[in-house]
Amino acid sequence: MATTAPVITVDGPGGAGKGTITQMLARRLGWHLLDSGALYRLTALAATRQGVSLDDEAGLAEVARGLDAAFEPTEPGEPVRVILAGEDVTREIRTEACGDNASRVAAMQPVRDALLQRQRDFRQPPGLVADGRDMGTVVFPRAETKIFLTASALERAERRYRQLKDAGVDVNIDALLEEIRVRDERDMNRSAAPLKPAEDAQVIDSTGLSIEEVLDRVMAAAGQA
Ligand code: DC
Repeated sequence: MATTAPVITVDGPGGAGKGTITQMLARRLGWHLLDSGALYRLTALAATRQGVSLDDEAGLAEVARGLDAAFEPTEPGEPVRVILAGEDVTREIRTEACGDNASRVAAMQPVRDALLQRQRDFRQPPGLVADGRDMGTVVFPRAETKIFLTASALERAERRYRQLKDAGVDVNIDALLEEIRVRDERDMNRSAAPLKPAEDAQVIDSTGLSIEEVLDRVMAAAGQA
């Protein structure tokens, strides 16, 4: 039965390494992966394309409900391909502008409600690794394992800086740090599903740890080490 498939939730602020860790974890376990942030990013992108204002809550909820999105697996080590209405938008949804718009639409309860069941439908055998902000608190409150992955704002800004530099994008570290602080503030202080660890979550601080070290700790926390 789909509803009995185990779930590992990994929540935390942007840039804490959740994306990399959840992809590696899902691959190692052979489980499905839910990148819930991508659904908020897709909603923001689809709204912009359809001319729906980012202040129009009802319109945005409608866009979220009708989202024609697909996640296609790629080769191991490659990010999942994200398709919106038949078009590959994998790169487009990762821009800072799309992330900022996603953070705005994600603050709206009707948008969150519209995406709730779609997220729960990812829970399929043999199991699911769910990456987001409210996976352990709202979407999968009975998940077997809940991780809250965090890192200092400076470390997260530095990681993002390196990623963008590697991608050939010229950025300023101070501007990135400021953006991260603003987004954290918005994600943590919104009334709709604010970012916070579930009461039964295990908090892992990845500051100063390598990806492998973080993965080992997450596997141990999930009883899979
Ligand atoms: O993880 P991400 O950067 O792709 O998320 C994009 C935005 O969506 C971010 O500002 C937080 C929001 N989000 C959310 O509110 N709830 C989730 N479960 C996932 C993301």
